[in-house]
Amino acid sequence: MALERTLSIIKPDAVAKNVIGEIYARFEKAGLKIVAAKMKHLSRKEAEGFYAVHKERPFFNALVEFMISGPVVISVLQGENAVLAHRELMGATNPKEAKPGTIRADFAESIDANAVHGSDATETAKVEIAYFFAETEVFPR
Ligand code: TYD
Repeated sequence: MALERTLSIIKPDAVAKNVIGEIYARFEKAGLKIVAAKMKHLSRKEAEGFYAVHKERPFFNALVEFMISGPVVISVLQGENAVLAHRELMGATNPKEAKPGTIRADFAESIDANAVHGSDATETAKVEIAYFFAETEVFPR
């Protein structure tokens, strides 16, 4: 087992649905600690930069528009195998394929408005955490 950190984003659809607390509770019940958090309305530049790996994909523009459609809650989660543990709580990218009881199965409407983001690997997590947080804004505990 490895103590890891991962980046979580509660996307505009889930913030609008007023389920920030319900999603946070799932993280905490699974043993993940919130060690950094901020609410932010992303600029177009920030959203494009964050999803730069997808810039050639057909859904890129719609994804960016969605991510800037309202505020998001960005957090760093810490725990044993946090990257995979968080991905399991999230469920599949397409909520129609997400296992019952996962965040996306319960709160997401569609593949493009799918409630949450989570880093997909420890290396990606490092880059994504540094994209949004200074080292002094993360509080290991
Ligand atoms: P991806 O990194 O494949 O999924 P995940 O968020 O589960 O790591 O895709 C990033 C986001 O892009 C995804 O959460 C929603 C959006 N997206 C679409 O809108 N349509 C698609 O067909 C795919 C694959 C992703």
